[in-house]
Amino acid sequence: MTSIPTRVAIVTGASKGIGAAISQRLARDGMAVVVNYSRSRSEAEAVVSAIEAGGGKAIAVQANIADPAGIAMLFDAGEQAFGGVDILVNNAGIMKLSPVAETDDASFDHQVATNLGGVFRGMREGARRLRDGGRIISFSSSVVGLYQPGYGVYAATKAAVEAMTHILAKELGARRITVNAVAPGPVETALFTDGKSAAQIEAIGKMIPLGRLGQSDDIAGVVSFLAGPDSFWVNGQIIRANGGVI
Ligand SMILES: NC(=O)c1ccc[n+]([C@@H]2O[C@H](COP(=O)([O-])OP(=O)(O)OC[C@H]3O[C@@H](n4cnc5c(N)ncnc54)[C@H](OP(=O)(O)O)[C@@H]3O)[C@@H](O)[C@H]2O)c1
Repeated sequence: MTSIPTRVAIVTGASKGIGAAISQRLARDGMAVVVNYSRSRSEAEAVVSAIEAGGGKAIAVQANIADPAGIAMLFDAGEQAFGGVDILVNNAGIMKLSPVAETDDASFDHQVATNLGGVFRGMREGARRLRDGGRIISFSSSVVGLYQPGYGVYAATKAAVEAMTHILAKELGARRITVNAVAPGPVETALFTDGKSAAQIEAIGKMIPLGRLGQSDDIAGVVSFLAGPDSFWVNGQIIRANGGVI
């Protein structure tokens, strides 16, 4: 009997929030996972421990994806620990809200370097190093379609991710690598709740037709589908996972 090789996934920004949930879900799906973090080492190690406690395989790897060398380090680690990489989840991202007139260069540069630069280098490294039949899943946001005041730079970085997703899907099709993005609506993580009052958070939850805020596991389920065999014919798409709010 021939054994099916374990699929290997890199999840960027996996120490908390949506990335932590994705790592645990992909491990439950049978994948070995590179759990990336930039600052939150103990949280990333806790994600690895939870995966191992469930019988899965994972390693925590520090890398700043805004740093040009960061993504390559993650591929190096995945290849050394598990023999190759099949799935890249470009999840890490930051959000700094301010009207365009009040946005300073440091905020612009940080968001562009992380949300766009990190995803660009992830896509480039993935195009070069993922095994044939692999998957690239990146993160946009449903705010791309809302044009809300204060979201100018953040939404622009995510719109750029969507454009690159459509184009890279056409470039990698011949190698059976699919390229898609998930665009969540509000998900109850630090990125969403920081800086908002309890009343604001509750009001946003009530705006969602399904009656509550999104949870990280709601998004991890969508990534599991895109990373798995049943999604092969889904390519170059943006999945708006937002409870129907937009
Ligand atoms: N939550 C929402 O409502 C929502 C909605 C739409 C889209 N999204 C998108 O979903 C993704 C995940 O968001 P989240 O809500 O889970 O955010 P979160 O709870 O703030 O977690 C962000 C994660 O990214 C990591 N990270 C940040 N900068 C990094 C860098 N330079 N290099 C490596 N890792 C880095 C953080 O790790 P460290 O702590 O170790 O730095 C953390 O693990 C983001 O792309 C976000 O834009 C979120």
